[in-house]
Order: sequence, then structure tokens, then C-alpha cells
Amino acid sequence: MIRINDVTKKFPTVTALQNISLTVADGEFFGLLGPNGAGKSTLMNLLIGYLDPDGGEITVGDDKVTRDNLEARKNIGLVPQSLALYDDISAQENLEIFGSFYHIEKRTLRHRIEERLRAVELYDRRKDRVSTFSGGMKRRLNLIASLLHDPSLLLCDEPTVGVDPQSRNAIFDYLEMLNCAGKTIVYTTHYMEEAERLCTRIAIIDSGTIITEGTLDDLLAKLSYEESISIIKNSSTIGKLELFRQFGTVIDDDDRFELKPNGTFRLSSFFKSVEEQGVSTRFIEMSKPTLEALFLNLTGRSLRD
Ligand SMILES: Nc1ncnc2c1ncn2[C@@H]1O[C@H](COP(=O)(O)OP(=O)(O)OP(=O)(O)O)[C@@H](O)[C@H]1O
Ligand SMILES: [Mg+2]
Repeated sequence: MIRINDVTKKFPTVTALQNISLTVADGEFFGLLGPNGAGKSTLMNLLIGYLDPDGGEITVGDDKVTRDNLEARKNIGLVPQSLALYDDISAQENLEIFGSFYHIEKRTLRHRIEERLRAVELYDRRKDRVSTFSGGMKRRLNLIASLLHDPSLLLCDEPTVGVDPQSRNAIFDYLEMLNCAGKTIVYTTHYMEEAERLCTRIAIIDSGTIITEGTLDDLLAKLSYEESISIIKNSSTIGKLELFRQFGTVIDDDDRFELKPNGTFRLSSFFKSVEEQGVSTRFIEMSKPTLEALFLNLTGRSLRD
């Protein structure tokens, strides 16, 4: 369990985090979604104890995380946003060096390096210099290099920035496999599609504060009430005004009904009911609720410039 309690972090010219509180349960795939400069990397650096907070406290399990508490760090791996690799030696040699930082027994390390190179599809390139790698290959190597000590908490700071779809999928698959095996993952991104696909719970962070958090459904539910649903008039919908009125206010427009959902509206039960009443969902139009739209709704800005 991660407990972030009222944490503030100030730099000389900016308050990067302001009174943040969050908890992450063991085994969660937790997403931290926010635009550039929101404070995501700062929070990751606090979580592994590379930085100390100016106020508040972070605990991981029973350990208070601070720069001095090296014991707490043993069980945490941070995949950094900026690549931390030696360019002029091979992938294999990089991993041997990173492994040596963690004092892993030689045979165990050799076995882990091989297994992980295979898992992220770099085994065939293990003897090549990192300088000859594509951006996506470097990202995959950066990922496994930070996790050789088999931590139970993985902090992944934008691990897919600038990668091709193949590398991105390899990274997703690897992280999902680790999460299924019981690892807790905190994952930062400014790609809402990634948070939607991977994360069991998401916090949206902006200008150093958490503006909302919950499961994807929780978050999207905050939005969907404000969206209106268009129902095109035709033989399957025209006599169903009373049915639609059970779900909100209906405005009878020229060629369509505009439904403004009420407070108890649930998309799934709406579709179930109208289908049961013979309405073809082909005639129902709505903008799909997305985290992007939620962010826009909460901040008046878009996630990416
Ligand atoms: N070491 C530092 N010294 C001074 N200011 C810093 C430092 N690290 C971060 N900041 C500032 O803190 C704020 C948050 O930065 P942070 O890197 O945590 O954002 P981020 O959400 O990771 O952004 P990005 O998506 O661009 O990686 C920014 O205003 C940044 O300039
Ligand atoms: Mg960052």
C-alpha cells in the first residue's frame, strides 16, 4: 500500500506539488494522467525517495520513504522518463552494470537478464551497442534495466514516449504481465488512451494538484451526465418518446430527439432498455465520453497542446 499524505514539493521558482493525498493498494495498476509540468515526475521522484517532500509524508508498506531510507528503496523500481543507459556498450553489458548496483547473485542476474531481454523482444540484439538502437528499443531496455532487482512496486514515468506501436505494445504486454503476477504499478502518461487501456484506477493531476481520481468508469460517469444523446427520428424511435423520458429531459427537435440524461442515468441500462423496446442503436448518436473530454471539462484546457 502506498500512502501519500498531504505532500507538498517546492522548487525555488515553482510549487511542483501542493497538498497531494493519494493511496494506491497493492496490486493496482494506477495511472497518473496529466499535461506537461503537472508534477508527475516530481511525484515519482518522491515515491522512490530521490527527493524529500517539503511537507507531508509518503509511506510504502511499513516504510516511510525519504532520501535517507535506502531500505525502502530496495523494493521500488523507477523507470525514468529520461533514458538512463550507456550508449557505447551493448544492451547485455548495460544490464550487467545495472544488475551490479543491486548486488544480485551472479547466476540469478544472468537468468533474469536473458528472460527480460526475451520478454521485451531484445534478445537477438543483446550484443549490439545501445547507440545503434531505435528510440523504442532504448525505451524497452530502459524499462527492464530499472527492474532487475524484482521490486514489488514499479514506477513507470512515461515509458512509451516517442515509441513506435510495436514497442509500445511490447511495453504494455510486459507491464500487464507483471501486474498480473502481483506487482503494483504506478504509471504516468499524458496519453489518455494509455490510461484508459491499462489502469485500474486513475488520478488526473494538473498544476501540482489532483483534480479528480477514480476508476475509469467513475471518471467517465462524472462526464456523461453533461453529454446529450441524439436519437434520430425514424420508425423505430418515433413512438418511443415516453421511453426516452424515463432517462432524462427530451427535447423534440426537427429530425431528432435530444436527450439530456438525468442524475441516475446509466449508459448500459439505457441501451439495454431501448434495445428491448425495439429501438435500433444505429439511430442513437452520442459523443463517446473520454478522459480527454473530462480534462477539458475540469480545466478548460486540453491534455496536450
Ligand atoms: N529539479 C527541478 N528544479 C526546479 N524545478 C523543477 C525541477 N523538477 C521539476 N521542476 C518544475 O516542477 C514542475 C513539475 O515538473 P514535473 O517534471 O514534475 O512535471 P511532469 O508532469 O513530469 O511534466 P512532463 O509531462 O513534461 O514530464 C515544473 O514546473 C518543473 O519546471
Ligand atoms: Mg515528467
